[in-house]
Amino acid sequence: MSNPHASRLATNRSRLGHKVRYALRHPRRVVPYLRRASRDTWLRLRHRGSHVAYYRAVMASDTARSPEAAVGGVPSRERWLAIGQMQYDYLVGHGLKPQDRMLEIGCGNLRAGWRFIEHLEPGHYYGIDISPDILIEAKKTVVRYGLQEKLPHLTPVDDLTLDFLPDSWFTVIHAHSVFSHSPLEVIDECLAHVGRVLAPGGFFDFTYDRTETNEHQVLGEDFYYRTQTLVALAEKHGLVAHVMDDWERLPHGQSKLRVAHTRLNALD
Ligand SMILES: C[S@@+](CC[C@H](N)C(=O)[O-])C[C@H]1O[C@@H](n2cnc3c(N)ncnc32)[C@H](O)[C@@H]1O
Repeated sequence: MSNPHASRLATNRSRLGHKVRYALRHPRRVVPYLRRASRDTWLRLRHRGSHVAYYRAVMASDTARSPEAAVGGVPSRERWLAIGQMQYDYLVGHGLKPQDRMLEIGCGNLRAGWRFIEHLEPGHYYGIDISPDILIEAKKTVVRYGLQEKLPHLTPVDDLTLDFLPDSWFTVIHAHSVFSHSPLEVIDECLAHVGRVLAPGGFFDFTYDRTETNEHQVLGEDFYYRTQTLVALAEKHGLVAHVMDDWERLPHGQSKLRVAHTRLNALD
């Protein structure tokens, strides 16, 4: 059977040829893309040398326009709900229990987080994000769903050293559509430190934009990695990473890796 993702995985979106073909197929997207590209150039110049500062500025600008679009690319409530549901159903399907202690890296405005908060015992959800603007929206989501008594933690961060969090604490760590916006040094920093806060037997799931051609980026915002690069990075930090094949079957354009201290039985 042919791989339904073959064309997506073989596309190099940074190539001029791809951009021209894409523009011819989607002429209405040309002007918004040019607008985004000029904002990108300005923000990259302004925050030269710091991807986090640059991306925080992207999030501030996107959040001011639409919090739903800031975390998902399209200003649609239905899509916001559906992608959150997909993340939630997946983890519950993989055994997420109310007693789990969860860290969500890049929690955004709690698209999936509000469902995790509802499911988990009070105080068991910890969301971190580089963007104060989106965390203010996250607080509004807590209010909208009446989750105050679940006492979620919502914390802005400047890096992914996780130095303020305790050893061996989190049984589930989750990052959805975060490394798809991260250069390799940010992922490296996360993988260098995540093992310390991950409980024995726990796991860290993250999605990434996968390519099977050359690794590349589009503007400063979207990064495409080969799976082997990320698996090797996890190994460098003493962790084991596996592609989650059941995630590939879901209607989401990214792939998912599960990282743990050792190979997890459930994956055998
Ligand atoms: C596309 S949104 C996804 C948000 C959420 N995970 C979801 O699925 O709705 C990416 C989020 O990751 C955050 N982010 C990006 N880079 C980050 C980093 N290095 N550390 C923490 N958060 C980051 C952004 O501010 C943004 O809120």
